Amino acid sequence: MSFIEINHLQKIYRKATVTVPAVNDISFTIEKGEFLAIVGKSGSGKSTLLNLLGGLDTPTSGEILFDGANLFGEGKDGLVKHRRHRVGMVFQSFQLILGQTALENVELALAFGGISRSERRARALALLEQVGLADRADHYPTELSGGEAQRVAIARALANDPDILLADEPTGNLDTQTGEMILGLLQELNRQGRTVIMITHDPDMAKVAQRTIRMQDGQLQNS
Ligand SMILES: Nc1ncnc2c1ncn2[C@@H]1O[C@H](COP(=O)(O)OP(=O)(O)OP(=O)(O)O)[C@@H](O)[C@H]1O
Ligand SMILES: [Mg+2]
Repeated sequence: MSFIEINHLQKIYRKATVTVPAVNDISFTIEKGEFLAIVGKSGSGKSTLLNLLGGLDTPTSGEILFDGANLFGEGKDGLVKHRRHRVGMVFQSFQLILGQTALENVELALAFGGISRSERRARALALLEQVGLADRADHYPTELSGGEAQRVAIARALANDPDILLADEPTGNLDTQTGEMILGLLQELNRQGRTVIMITHDPDMAKVAQRTIRMQDGQLQNS
């Protein structure tokens, strides 16, 4: 049994007269601790696939098994648990909450389960320390550079200590040097044992992955 098994996964978007098979019968497996890159042209279905893996969306048909259990088998509750405890997500546009400080953004992601306010605060600060940003804790997102904002987003993704990090073009809005720094951080988190799945347009970024899959028109291209 593989860590993640994707079986005949399909996501078809239907809009009035247009039908888009964004993910069109994809099957493959991912092992624990892998660093996987997903590449492919714009519109090839990369984000759709990643959002399905993150439990942000449900498939038209097919399944994704995590440790043998179907992600979509337990309805909404199962997806909420998945998002809260098993995966952390990072996006190109950071997606921080603008009215909240860096510290508050991380704190908000911490699961509530029986921890006091001061403990939550301490944990959030430790996470910011981990990404080298403790000294920006009280900055609002508009008071952060792009690289700093992405590090806050990574700290937030790590809040509940997920096994899996899903990153959708995490360096897409950053200059080369800052992008390399974020990539280094993802590599370090991978070395600590986390499975990392990253979409990228940049062949140099994909090089750090152990394996690259290429998407074309919603399908996996043989490489
Ligand atoms: N919510 C939606 N409703 C209808 N069609 C959608 C929706 N989301 C995506 N699509 C379509 O599905 C296809 C795949 O989109 P997706 O965002 O997965 O591509 P992508 O590979 O991530 O592209 P990019 O590199 O530009 O981010 C596209 O043709 C897009 O127009
Ligand atoms: Mg995309």
